[in-house]
Amino acid sequence: MRISRSAAFVIPLLLASPVIPGVAGPASPERHPVPAGQRALLAHEKEIDALIARMTLDEKIGQMTQPDQQYLASPRDIAAYHLGSLLSGGDSDPKRSNSFADWREMIDGYHAEAQKSRLQIPLLYGVDAVHGHNNVVGAVVFPQQIGLGATRDAGLVEEVARITAKEVRATGANWTFAPCVTVPRDERWGRSYEGFGEDTTLVRELGAAAVRGFQGPALSDPLRVAACAKHYVGDGGTVWGTGRRDDKHPTKGGRLDQGDVQLEEAALRRIHLAPYADAIAAGVATIMPSYSSWNGVKCSGSRQLLTEILKNDLGFQGFLISDYAAIDQLPGDYRSDVKQSIGAGMDMVMVPEKYQEFIATLKGLIEAGEVDKARIDDAVRRILRVKFAMGLAPGARAASDAALAASFGSAEHRAVARRAVRQSLVLLKNEKRTLPLAKDLKRIHVAGRGADDMPMQAGGWTVYWQGLRVAGKPEARIPGTSILAGIQAAVSKSTTVTHSKDGAGAEGADAVVVVVGEEPYAEFEGDRSDLSLGQADKDAIAAARKAGKPLVVVLLSGRPMVVTDELGLADAFVAAWLPGTEGAGVADVLFGDHKPSGKLPMSWPRSNAQIPVNVGDATYDPLYKYGYGLTY
Ligand code: GLC
Repeated sequence: MRISRSAAFVIPLLLASPVIPGVAGPASPERHPVPAGQRALLAHEKEIDALIARMTLDEKIGQMTQPDQQYLASPRDIAAYHLGSLLSGGDSDPKRSNSFADWREMIDGYHAEAQKSRLQIPLLYGVDAVHGHNNVVGAVVFPQQIGLGATRDAGLVEEVARITAKEVRATGANWTFAPCVTVPRDERWGRSYEGFGEDTTLVRELGAAAVRGFQGPALSDPLRVAACAKHYVGDGGTVWGTGRRDDKHPTKGGRLDQGDVQLEEAALRRIHLAPYADAIAAGVATIMPSYSSWNGVKCSGSRQLLTEILKNDLGFQGFLISDYAAIDQLPGDYRSDVKQSIGAGMDMVMVPEKYQEFIATLKGLIEAGEVDKARIDDAVRRILRVKFAMGLAPGARAASDAALAASFGSAEHRAVARRAVRQSLVLLKNEKRTLPLAKDLKRIHVAGRGADDMPMQAGGWTVYWQGLRVAGKPEARIPGTSILAGIQAAVSKSTTVTHSKDGAGAEGADAVVVVVGEEPYAEFEGDRSDLSLGQADKDAIAAARKAGKPLVVVLLSGRPMVVTDELGLADAFVAAWLPGTEGAGVADVLFGDHKPSGKLPMSWPRSNAQIPVNVGDATYDPLYKYGYGLTY
């Protein structure tokens, strides 16, 4: 389906996003007004002209090539192939450990290799710092974005991103693949928690705030990083059953993730496109096209989406980075994948493994005249715009600043994360004034799988791609405070806190807190058709109920779950999302140090049959509506 550039197209966008007037035609700055937020990227055009004039074709292609560092045949390939960027994808870690020192040593080593290239153009080193610098042990791990969505606090979101940027820079990385400005519409999606919520206006506001926090007023600030709005466009709107089949995990496999968005053009813009206009207005330097498709056309190969809308009409002046091997999913062979994606407007390719093959394939296409040299120069210009804006001109220093090590994972940063946890909690039920609990009860029993479990507390994208606990790998340990530890620290010296995962021993306590929820997951491995609690959680709640005392349930989940029955058993029920390392923030609300203020970022379903459920549905009758949240 071709997207018309008629008034019919431009007007909905204007209505949806008054910030950016749709700009028709190529966004060459001298011919069309460039969004104000993008102008900083155009401040070095003359230096870039001069540099491009000096570059060989190999050097240009090298700037467009992003391997995952774990697949480098040798660090010397960085200079040999004139590579412009590297990434650490999920599980792409330093060889020795995930310590701060090893991350910094690895990345700084790559920066040093880039300085051996002829032109000495510094590297962009990308990581998925999506809720703190979450790959690195010792980083402060913030609530996942869905929890930040529940805070409704743009200033807090900006502060979280600013701190994340500082911790990323401390390791020598300078680019994060965040914020995810998806609008998750189906609670079964394994990436729901990576979004701020189901409401486009909320995502627009918080996505732009995150961009401002990551990038700051000036990209040249050595304490900020390049941001990446992702995954363009409609990744959260795919239809169940169209998702990627994960052959390794046929039972878990994605029935939604990387699937097909089947929407009319106006609905796509209204629901899913608008946040990109705001990210562009906020100055976002990079955008990542999605694995998913729109009406059967892969986003990563769509000229309409990548060039006509994003670059020409919305005036995006930075560069597009493909998702991880996403162009391989385009129809045809690899040569046609490269031809189609670059021709569509992809500027840098997250290869990530066979970078020599990508380079040779693209060079062959250019020499055969099947990819225009002008397209190559445009892609390289866009990449260099971001580098020059960041102060990464040829020969510039890109390695980490040792002075930043002292603040990495600091108490000051953790205090902000604890505040984010407090503000993210949504109180769904509170009968008989169960909450706040008194701090001087004689005994509080804490039960449930999640009470003392950092993997459940942090969720996916934490040290490992799939989270801290992965079958076949030793559980990663990170510094932080469990919910149990937070409760123990909050109560009086005269109070006894007992604990059991299964709820045993609750009898005789004066109150019982049961922490249940989801095991960590990421991407398609989190797609689920059944959002009920597991049996162990149900049993723990039932056991606790038998104690006949005030029962508080705390749910750790990346999305609303079907807990209608368990809600009936609880006196109070708190949706805590995936709070990260600072679990004490939960105790702050349980014991009255902070009144609950969180509001639902997604509608809460009564049953699996009701999913997906969103504001605007013809029959909108969720258990709790979008925006619901009690206080006391
Ligand atoms: C992943 C994700 C994307 C991430 C990228 C690099 O597959 O889709 O969100 O930024 O690869 O890790």
